[in-house]
Amino acid sequence: MSAIYITGGKPLSGSVRVQGAKNSVLPILAATLLSGGPCVIRNCPDLLDVDTSVRILRRLGCRADREEPGAVSVNAAGMDRFEIPETLMREMRSSVVFLGAILSRAGEAVLSYPGGCDLGPRPIDLHIAALRQMGAEIREEGGFLYCKAQRLTGCDIHLGTPSVGATENVMLAAARARGTTRIYNAAREPEIEDLQNFLNAIGGRVAGAGSSTVTVEGARHLGGAEHAVIADRIVAATLLAAVTLTGGDVRLTGARPGDLDTVISVLAKAGCGITSGGTEIRAKRDRAPRSMGRICTMPHPGFPTDAQALVMAAACRAEGVTMFSERIFESRYGHVGELLRMGADIQVEGRVAVVRGVAKLYGTRVCATDLRGGAALAVAGLAAEGETVLSGLTHIDRGYERFEDTLKTLGADVKRM
Ligand code: EPU
Repeated sequence: MSAIYITGGKPLSGSVRVQGAKNSVLPILAATLLSGGPCVIRNCPDLLDVDTSVRILRRLGCRADREEPGAVSVNAAGMDRFEIPETLMREMRSSVVFLGAILSRAGEAVLSYPGGCDLGPRPIDLHIAALRQMGAEIREEGGFLYCKAQRLTGCDIHLGTPSVGATENVMLAAARARGTTRIYNAAREPEIEDLQNFLNAIGGRVAGAGSSTVTVEGARHLGGAEHAVIADRIVAATLLAAVTLTGGDVRLTGARPGDLDTVISVLAKAGCGITSGGTEIRAKRDRAPRSMGRICTMPHPGFPTDAQALVMAAACRAEGVTMFSERIFESRYGHVGELLRMGADIQVEGRVAVVRGVAKLYGTRVCATDLRGGAALAVAGLAAEGETVLSGLTHIDRGYERFEDTLKTLGADVKRM
Protein backbone atom coordinates (compact mmCIF):
# COMPACT_ATOMS: atom_id res chain seq x y z
CA MET A 1 0.00 0.00 0.00
CA SER A 2 1.51 3.32 -1.01
CA ALA A 3 1.85 6.22 1.41
CA ILE A 4 3.09 9.80 1.44
CA TYR A 5 5.97 10.42 3.85
CA ILE A 6 6.21 13.98 5.11
CA THR A 7 8.98 15.35 7.29
CA GLY A 8 7.47 18.47 8.81
CA GLY A 9 8.92 21.78 9.85
CA LYS A 10 9.87 23.48 6.59
CA PRO A 11 8.14 26.73 5.61
CA LEU A 12 6.67 26.63 2.10
CA SER A 13 7.99 28.97 -0.56
CA GLY A 14 7.85 29.31 -4.31
CA SER A 15 5.25 29.39 -7.02
CA VAL A 16 2.75 26.82 -8.33
CA ARG A 17 -0.01 26.87 -10.92
CA VAL A 18 -3.41 25.82 -9.58
CA GLN A 19 -4.86 22.77 -11.36
CA GLY A 20 -8.25 22.75 -13.12
CA ALA A 21 -11.27 22.23 -10.88
CA LYS A 22 -12.37 18.64 -10.24
CA ASN A 23 -15.92 19.69 -9.44
CA SER A 24 -16.14 21.60 -12.74
CA VAL A 25 -14.61 19.09 -15.07
CA LEU A 26 -16.76 16.15 -13.93
CA PRO A 27 -20.19 17.65 -14.81
CA ILE A 28 -18.67 19.13 -17.99
CA LEU A 29 -17.52 15.67 -19.07
CA ALA A 30 -21.08 14.43 -18.44
CA ALA A 31 -22.35 17.37 -20.53
CA THR A 32 -20.33 16.23 -23.54
CA LEU A 33 -22.96 13.47 -23.90
CA LEU A 34 -25.43 16.15 -25.03
CA SER A 35 -23.17 17.27 -27.84
CA GLY A 36 -23.40 16.04 -31.39
CA GLY A 37 -19.82 17.04 -32.20
CA PRO A 38 -16.25 16.74 -30.96
CA CYS A 39 -15.43 18.45 -27.65
CA VAL A 40 -12.03 19.22 -26.17
CA ILE A 41 -11.88 19.94 -22.46
CA ARG A 42 -8.70 21.80 -21.52
CA ASN A 43 -7.08 22.55 -18.16
CA CYS A 44 -8.33 19.08 -17.29
CA PRO A 45 -6.58 17.78 -14.16
CA ASP A 46 -5.08 14.30 -14.08
CA LEU A 47 -7.27 12.71 -11.40
CA LEU A 48 -8.79 9.33 -10.62
CA ASP A 49 -12.28 10.89 -10.87
CA VAL A 50 -11.51 12.16 -14.37
CA ASP A 51 -10.35 8.64 -15.33
CA THR A 52 -13.64 7.29 -13.96
CA SER A 53 -15.63 9.80 -16.07
CA VAL A 54 -13.63 8.83 -19.16
CA ARG A 55 -14.37 5.15 -18.46
CA ILE A 56 -18.09 5.94 -18.08
CA LEU A 57 -18.12 7.84 -21.40
CA ARG A 58 -16.37 4.94 -23.16
CA ARG A 59 -18.72 2.43 -21.60
CA LEU A 60 -21.63 4.42 -23.05
CA GLY A 61 -20.08 4.09 -26.52
CA CYS A 62 -18.39 7.51 -26.78
CA ARG A 63 -14.82 8.16 -27.80
CA ALA A 64 -12.93 9.74 -24.92
CA ASP A 65 -9.15 10.16 -24.85
CA ARG A 66 -6.39 12.08 -23.19
CA GLU A 67 -4.67 12.94 -26.46
CA GLU A 68 -2.37 15.54 -24.92
CA PRO A 69 -1.49 16.43 -21.33
CA GLY A 70 -4.15 18.58 -19.71
CA ALA A 71 -6.84 17.88 -22.31
CA VAL A 72 -9.56 15.28 -22.76
CA SER A 73 -11.24 14.89 -26.17
CA VAL A 74 -14.73 13.45 -26.30
CA ASN A 75 -16.89 12.55 -29.23
CA ALA A 76 -20.30 11.34 -28.08
CA ALA A 77 -21.71 10.81 -31.59
CA GLY A 78 -21.45 7.02 -31.21
CA MET A 79 -23.21 6.78 -27.81
CA ASP A 80 -25.21 3.56 -27.96
CA ARG A 81 -25.73 2.53 -24.31
CA PHE A 82 -27.59 4.06 -21.41
CA GLU A 83 -26.44 1.97 -18.44
CA ILE A 84 -23.58 2.70 -16.03
CA PRO A 85 -22.30 -0.38 -14.19
CA GLU A 86 -22.45 -0.28 -10.41
CA THR A 87 -18.66 -0.56 -10.06
CA LEU A 88 -18.19 2.73 -11.95
CA MET A 89 -21.12 4.42 -10.19
CA ARG A 90 -19.61 3.63 -6.80
CA GLU A 91 -16.23 5.19 -7.59
CA MET A 92 -17.39 8.78 -7.18
CA ARG A 93 -20.32 10.99 -6.32
CA SER A 94 -20.29 12.81 -9.67
CA SER A 95 -21.37 9.67 -11.50
CA VAL A 96 -24.92 10.74 -10.61
CA VAL A 97 -24.76 13.85 -12.84
CA PHE A 98 -24.55 11.50 -15.82
CA LEU A 99 -28.21 10.69 -15.10
CA GLY A 100 -29.68 13.94 -16.50
CA ALA A 101 -27.40 13.84 -19.53
CA ILE A 102 -28.01 10.16 -20.41
CA LEU A 103 -31.75 10.49 -19.97
CA SER A 104 -31.87 13.57 -22.15
CA ARG A 105 -29.73 12.02 -24.86
CA ALA A 106 -31.03 8.42 -24.88
CA GLY A 107 -34.53 8.71 -23.38
CA GLU A 108 -33.56 5.95 -20.97
CA ALA A 109 -30.99 5.46 -18.18
CA VAL A 110 -30.09 2.70 -15.72
CA LEU A 111 -27.77 3.62 -12.85
CA SER A 112 -27.11 2.52 -9.30
CA TYR A 113 -26.75 4.94 -6.40
CA PRO A 114 -23.42 6.85 -6.56
CA GLY A 115 -20.37 6.49 -4.31
CA GLY A 116 -18.00 9.29 -3.24
CA CYS A 117 -16.65 10.49 0.08
CA ASP A 118 -18.42 9.25 3.20
CA LEU A 119 -19.72 12.50 4.70
CA GLY A 120 -22.88 11.04 6.26
CA PRO A 121 -26.06 10.38 4.29
CA ARG A 122 -25.94 11.89 0.78
CA PRO A 123 -29.44 11.45 -0.62
CA ILE A 124 -30.34 12.15 -4.27
CA ASP A 125 -34.04 12.79 -3.64
CA LEU A 126 -33.84 16.33 -5.08
CA HIS A 127 -32.29 15.02 -8.32
CA ILE A 128 -35.01 12.39 -8.69
CA ALA A 129 -37.92 14.69 -7.81
CA ALA A 130 -36.73 17.35 -10.30
CA LEU A 131 -36.31 14.86 -13.14
CA ARG A 132 -39.76 13.39 -12.39
CA GLN A 133 -41.18 16.93 -12.59
CA MET A 134 -39.62 17.20 -16.05
CA GLY A 135 -41.53 14.10 -17.13
CA ALA A 136 -39.12 11.26 -16.34
CA GLU A 137 -40.49 7.97 -15.04
CA ILE A 138 -38.08 6.76 -12.38
CA ARG A 139 -38.33 3.42 -10.61
CA GLU A 140 -36.02 2.74 -7.66
CA GLU A 141 -35.33 -0.92 -7.04
CA GLY A 142 -32.55 -2.75 -5.22
CA GLY A 143 -30.24 0.28 -5.19
CA PHE A 144 -30.77 0.91 -8.91
CA LEU A 145 -32.61 3.67 -10.74
CA TYR A 146 -34.51 2.70 -13.88
CA CYS A 147 -35.39 5.90 -15.75
CA LYS A 148 -37.33 6.63 -18.92
CA ALA A 149 -38.45 9.82 -20.66
CA GLN A 150 -39.64 10.20 -24.26
CA ARG A 151 -38.60 13.83 -24.24
CA LEU A 152 -38.05 15.80 -21.06
CA THR A 153 -40.15 18.94 -20.70
CA GLY A 154 -39.01 22.20 -19.13
CA CYS A 155 -40.78 23.43 -15.99
CA ASP A 156 -40.21 25.47 -12.82
CA ILE A 157 -38.16 23.57 -10.23
CA HIS A 158 -37.77 24.74 -6.65
CA LEU A 159 -34.90 22.99 -4.89
CA GLY A 160 -35.42 22.56 -1.15
CA THR A 161 -31.64 22.93 -0.66
CA PRO A 162 -29.27 24.62 -3.12
CA SER A 163 -27.72 21.27 -4.03
CA VAL A 164 -24.75 21.50 -6.38
CA GLY A 165 -25.33 18.08 -7.94
CA ALA A 166 -29.10 18.51 -8.32
CA THR A 167 -28.64 21.93 -9.97
CA GLU A 168 -26.15 20.37 -12.41
CA ASN A 169 -28.34 17.36 -13.14
CA VAL A 170 -31.32 19.57 -13.94
CA MET A 171 -29.21 21.88 -16.13
CA LEU A 172 -28.02 18.83 -18.10
CA ALA A 173 -31.50 17.37 -18.41
CA ALA A 174 -32.94 20.75 -19.42
CA ALA A 175 -30.37 21.71 -22.05
CA ARG A 176 -32.13 19.62 -24.74
CA ALA A 177 -35.59 19.44 -23.16
CA ARG A 178 -38.74 20.85 -24.72
CA GLY A 179 -39.35 24.43 -23.47
CA THR A 180 -37.83 26.42 -20.63
CA THR A 181 -36.70 25.18 -17.21
CA ARG A 182 -36.23 27.57 -14.32
CA ILE A 183 -34.30 26.32 -11.29
CA TYR A 184 -35.11 28.29 -8.15
CA ASN A 185 -32.85 28.13 -5.08
CA ALA A 186 -30.12 26.84 -7.41
CA ALA A 187 -26.59 26.31 -6.12
CA ARG A 188 -24.42 29.38 -6.80
CA GLU A 189 -20.99 27.72 -6.80
CA PRO A 190 -18.46 28.86 -9.44
CA GLU A 191 -18.56 25.33 -10.92
CA ILE A 192 -22.22 25.92 -11.87
CA GLU A 193 -21.13 28.97 -13.88
CA ASP A 194 -18.45 26.91 -15.58
CA LEU A 195 -21.04 24.31 -16.56
CA GLN A 196 -23.27 27.09 -17.92
CA ASN A 197 -20.35 28.42 -19.98
CA PHE A 198 -19.66 24.99 -21.45
CA LEU A 199 -23.33 24.36 -22.27
CA ASN A 200 -23.51 27.75 -23.99
CA ALA A 201 -20.30 27.02 -25.89
CA ILE A 202 -21.93 23.91 -27.41
CA GLY A 203 -25.01 25.95 -28.39
CA GLY A 204 -27.12 25.77 -25.23
CA ARG A 205 -29.15 28.66 -23.87
CA VAL A 206 -28.45 28.88 -20.16
CA ALA A 207 -28.48 32.04 -18.05
CA GLY A 208 -28.36 33.04 -14.40
CA ALA A 209 -25.66 30.67 -13.07
CA GLY A 210 -23.99 32.28 -10.07
CA SER A 211 -27.37 33.63 -8.93
CA SER A 212 -30.07 31.56 -7.24
CA THR A 213 -32.21 31.29 -10.39
CA VAL A 214 -30.87 29.45 -13.41
CA THR A 215 -32.88 29.49 -16.64
CA VAL A 216 -32.34 26.89 -19.34
CA GLU A 217 -34.08 27.09 -22.70
CA GLY A 218 -34.01 23.70 -24.33
CA ALA A 219 -32.23 23.40 -27.69
CA ARG A 220 -32.81 20.55 -30.17
CA HIS A 221 -29.19 20.28 -31.26
CA LEU A 222 -25.99 20.94 -29.42
CA GLY A 223 -22.63 20.89 -31.23
CA GLY A 224 -18.97 20.50 -30.29
CA ALA A 225 -16.67 23.02 -28.62
CA GLU A 226 -13.38 23.56 -26.84
CA HIS A 227 -13.54 24.69 -23.25
CA ALA A 228 -10.97 25.33 -20.52
CA VAL A 229 -12.18 24.52 -17.00
CA ILE A 230 -11.74 27.05 -14.20
CA ALA A 231 -9.08 26.82 -11.50
CA ASP A 232 -9.76 24.58 -8.52
CA ARG A 233 -10.62 26.88 -5.60
CA ILE A 234 -10.30 24.08 -3.04
CA VAL A 235 -6.81 23.11 -4.20
CA ALA A 236 -5.91 26.81 -3.90
CA ALA A 237 -7.49 26.85 -0.41
CA THR A 238 -5.42 23.78 0.51
CA LEU A 239 -2.17 25.54 -0.34
CA LEU A 240 -3.22 28.77 1.39
CA ALA A 241 -4.11 26.83 4.55
CA ALA A 242 -0.74 25.06 4.33
CA VAL A 243 1.21 28.37 4.23
CA THR A 244 -0.90 29.72 7.09
CA LEU A 245 0.25 26.74 9.12
CA THR A 246 3.88 26.32 8.06
CA GLY A 247 4.75 29.96 7.36
CA GLY A 248 6.62 31.02 4.23
CA ASP A 249 5.85 32.86 1.01
CA VAL A 250 3.86 31.20 -1.77
CA ARG A 251 2.55 32.49 -5.08
CA LEU A 252 -0.38 30.71 -6.75
CA THR A 253 -0.84 31.36 -10.46
CA GLY A 254 -3.78 30.54 -12.73
CA ALA A 255 -6.11 31.05 -9.73
CA ARG A 256 -9.46 32.79 -9.27
CA PRO A 257 -9.09 34.89 -6.09
CA GLY A 258 -12.73 36.04 -6.27
CA ASP A 259 -13.92 32.45 -5.68
CA LEU A 260 -11.99 32.35 -2.40
CA ASP A 261 -13.15 35.50 -0.60
CA THR A 262 -14.43 33.76 2.55
CA VAL A 263 -11.42 31.43 2.82
CA ILE A 264 -9.00 34.32 2.34
CA SER A 265 -10.67 36.43 5.01
CA VAL A 266 -10.58 33.56 7.52
CA LEU A 267 -6.89 32.87 6.86
CA ALA A 268 -6.12 36.60 7.04
CA LYS A 269 -7.67 36.55 10.51
CA ALA A 270 -5.14 33.82 11.38
CA GLY A 271 -2.36 36.23 10.44
CA CYS A 272 -1.58 35.15 6.89
CA GLY A 273 -0.92 38.11 4.61
CA ILE A 274 -2.82 37.36 1.42
CA THR A 275 -2.77 39.66 -1.60
CA SER A 276 -4.17 39.01 -5.03
CA GLY A 277 -4.34 40.54 -8.46
CA GLY A 278 -5.64 39.11 -11.74
CA THR A 279 -5.08 35.36 -11.61
CA GLU A 280 -2.44 35.40 -8.87
CA ILE A 281 -2.62 34.99 -5.12
CA ARG A 282 0.34 35.55 -2.83
CA ALA A 283 0.33 34.28 0.74
CA LYS A 284 3.00 35.26 3.25
CA ARG A 285 3.15 34.35 6.93
CA ASP A 286 6.00 34.90 9.32
CA ARG A 287 4.37 34.69 12.76
CA ALA A 288 2.51 31.86 14.53
CA PRO A 289 -1.14 31.62 13.36
CA ARG A 290 -3.88 33.04 15.58
CA SER A 291 -7.38 31.73 16.27
CA MET A 292 -9.89 32.23 13.46
CA GLY A 293 -12.93 32.67 15.69
CA ARG A 294 -16.09 30.93 14.53
CA ILE A 295 -16.34 29.37 11.08
CA CYS A 296 -19.69 28.11 9.71
CA THR A 297 -19.75 26.22 6.43
CA MET A 298 -22.45 27.44 4.06
CA PRO A 299 -23.44 27.12 0.41
CA HIS A 300 -21.49 29.46 -1.88
CA PRO A 301 -20.73 32.35 -1.44
CA GLY A 302 -20.39 31.26 2.21
CA PHE A 303 -17.39 29.44 3.66
CA PRO A 304 -17.05 26.16 1.67
CA THR A 305 -17.51 22.85 3.47
CA ASP A 306 -14.69 21.51 1.27
CA ALA A 307 -12.24 23.88 3.01
CA GLN A 308 -13.36 23.03 6.56
CA ALA A 309 -10.86 20.20 7.19
CA LEU A 310 -8.01 22.16 5.56
CA VAL A 311 -8.51 25.26 7.67
CA MET A 312 -8.96 23.04 10.74
CA ALA A 313 -5.44 21.68 10.18
CA ALA A 314 -4.14 25.27 10.38
CA ALA A 315 -6.30 25.96 13.46
CA CYS A 316 -4.65 23.06 15.31
CA ARG A 317 -1.52 25.19 15.79
CA ALA A 318 -3.24 28.60 16.03
CA GLU A 319 -3.08 30.50 19.28
CA GLY A 320 -6.50 30.40 20.97
CA VAL A 321 -9.77 28.67 20.12
CA THR A 322 -11.30 28.22 16.67
CA MET A 323 -14.81 26.84 16.40
CA PHE A 324 -16.21 25.07 13.34
CA SER A 325 -19.87 24.54 12.61
CA GLU A 326 -20.50 22.13 9.71
CA ARG A 327 -23.83 23.09 8.17
CA ILE A 328 -23.71 21.22 4.84
CA PHE A 329 -22.93 17.59 5.67
CA GLU A 330 -24.03 15.58 8.68
CA SER A 331 -20.72 13.90 9.32
CA ARG A 332 -17.67 15.67 7.92
CA TYR A 333 -15.21 15.32 10.78
CA GLY A 334 -13.55 12.03 9.75
CA HIS A 335 -10.15 13.75 9.87
CA VAL A 336 -10.51 14.76 13.54
CA GLY A 337 -9.55 11.35 14.96
CA GLU A 338 -6.38 11.36 12.88
CA LEU A 339 -5.50 14.96 13.85
CA LEU A 340 -5.87 13.91 17.52
CA ARG A 341 -3.27 11.20 16.90
CA MET A 342 -0.94 13.99 15.77
CA GLY A 343 -1.40 15.81 19.07
CA ALA A 344 -4.24 18.21 18.18
CA ASP A 345 -6.78 19.31 20.80
CA ILE A 346 -10.24 19.05 19.20
CA GLN A 347 -13.63 18.33 20.72
CA VAL A 348 -16.54 17.39 18.50
CA GLU A 349 -20.16 17.54 19.51
CA GLY A 350 -22.60 16.88 16.72
CA ARG A 351 -21.86 19.32 13.94
CA VAL A 352 -19.59 21.53 16.05
CA ALA A 353 -15.83 21.10 16.49
CA VAL A 354 -13.86 23.18 18.98
CA VAL A 355 -10.15 23.40 18.24
CA ARG A 356 -7.70 24.65 20.87
CA GLY A 357 -4.36 25.48 19.33
CA VAL A 358 -1.41 23.41 20.60
CA ALA A 359 2.28 24.33 20.58
CA LYS A 360 3.28 21.24 18.57
CA LEU A 361 1.86 18.57 16.29
CA TYR A 362 3.72 15.27 16.02
CA GLY A 363 4.30 13.10 12.96
CA THR A 364 2.76 9.64 13.12
CA ARG A 365 0.90 7.12 10.89
CA VAL A 366 -2.44 8.52 9.72
CA CYS A 367 -4.99 7.47 7.15
CA ALA A 368 -7.13 9.61 4.85
CA THR A 369 -10.80 8.82 5.35
CA ASP A 370 -12.04 11.18 2.63
CA LEU A 371 -10.60 13.52 0.00
CA ARG A 372 -10.38 16.88 1.77
CA GLY A 373 -9.85 15.29 5.19
CA GLY A 374 -6.89 13.40 3.70
CA ALA A 375 -5.40 16.58 2.25
CA ALA A 376 -5.84 18.22 5.66
CA LEU A 377 -3.71 15.48 7.27
CA ALA A 378 -0.95 16.19 4.74
CA VAL A 379 -1.19 19.91 5.59
CA ALA A 380 -0.89 19.10 9.30
CA GLY A 381 2.08 16.82 8.54
CA LEU A 382 3.92 19.74 6.91
CA ALA A 383 4.08 21.48 10.29
CA ALA A 384 4.43 18.40 12.52
CA GLU A 385 7.59 17.43 14.35
CA GLY A 386 9.09 14.29 12.80
CA GLU A 387 7.64 12.08 10.08
CA THR A 388 3.99 11.75 9.11
CA VAL A 389 3.08 8.66 7.07
CA LEU A 390 -0.18 9.25 5.26
CA SER A 391 -2.02 6.30 3.70
CA GLY A 392 -5.45 6.06 2.05
CA LEU A 393 -4.10 7.88 -0.99
CA THR A 394 -6.88 6.84 -3.37
CA HIS A 395 -9.00 9.50 -1.66
CA ILE A 396 -6.39 12.19 -2.32
CA ASP A 397 -5.69 11.06 -5.90
CA ARG A 398 -9.39 11.49 -6.68
CA GLY A 399 -9.04 15.26 -6.36
CA TYR A 400 -5.39 16.39 -6.22
CA GLU A 401 -3.12 16.10 -9.24
CA ARG A 402 0.29 14.70 -8.12
CA PHE A 403 -0.21 16.27 -4.68
CA GLU A 404 3.23 15.37 -3.34
CA ASP A 405 4.92 16.99 -6.38
CA THR A 406 3.02 20.23 -5.77
CA LEU A 407 4.17 20.27 -2.15
CA LYS A 408 7.74 19.37 -3.17
CA THR A 409 7.79 22.31 -5.63
CA LEU A 410 7.08 24.53 -2.63
CA GLY A 411 10.06 23.11 -0.75
CA ALA A 412 8.30 20.53 1.44
CA ASP A 413 10.12 17.34 2.36
CA VAL A 414 7.62 14.87 0.89
CA LYS A 415 7.86 11.58 -0.95
CA ARG A 416 5.48 8.87 -2.06
CA MET A 417 6.55 5.26 -1.62
N1 EPU B 1 -28.88 16.93 -0.52
C1 EPU B 1 -30.11 16.34 -0.29
N2 EPU B 1 -30.76 15.78 -1.35
C2 EPU B 1 -30.23 15.78 -2.60
C3 EPU B 1 -28.99 16.38 -2.82
C4 EPU B 1 -28.33 16.96 -1.75
O1 EPU B 1 -30.61 16.32 0.83
O2 EPU B 1 -30.88 15.24 -3.52
C5 EPU B 1 -28.16 17.52 0.64
C6 EPU B 1 -26.87 16.76 0.94
O3 EPU B 1 -27.10 15.64 1.73
C7 EPU B 1 -26.03 17.82 1.61
C8 EPU B 1 -26.47 19.11 0.90
O4 EPU B 1 -27.72 18.82 0.28
O5 EPU B 1 -26.39 17.90 2.95
C9 EPU B 1 -25.51 19.62 -0.14
O6 EPU B 1 -25.21 18.60 -1.08
P1 EPU B 1 -24.87 18.91 -2.59
O7 EPU B 1 -25.82 18.17 -3.45
O8 EPU B 1 -24.72 20.38 -2.79
O9 EPU B 1 -23.43 18.25 -2.73
P2 EPU B 1 -22.88 17.34 -3.87
O10 EPU B 1 -23.38 17.81 -5.19
O11 EPU B 1 -23.09 15.92 -3.49
C10 EPU B 1 -20.77 18.81 -4.30
C11 EPU B 1 -19.29 18.59 -4.35
C12 EPU B 1 -18.77 18.35 -2.94
C13 EPU B 1 -19.10 19.57 -2.09
C14 EPU B 1 -20.62 19.83 -2.12
C15 EPU B 1 -21.03 21.08 -1.38
C16 EPU B 1 -18.96 17.54 -6.47
C17 EPU B 1 -18.59 16.32 -7.22
N3 EPU B 1 -19.01 17.42 -5.16
O12 EPU B 1 -21.34 17.62 -3.75
O13 EPU B 1 -17.37 18.23 -3.06
O14 EPU B 1 -18.70 19.34 -0.77
O15 EPU B 1 -21.06 19.95 -3.49
O16 EPU B 1 -20.36 22.18 -1.88
O17 EPU B 1 -19.17 18.59 -7.05
C18 EPU B 1 -15.22 17.39 -2.62
O18 EPU B 1 -14.83 17.93 -3.67
O19 EPU B 1 -14.42 16.87 -1.80
C19 EPU B 1 -16.64 17.32 -2.32
C20 EPU B 1 -17.16 16.51 -1.42
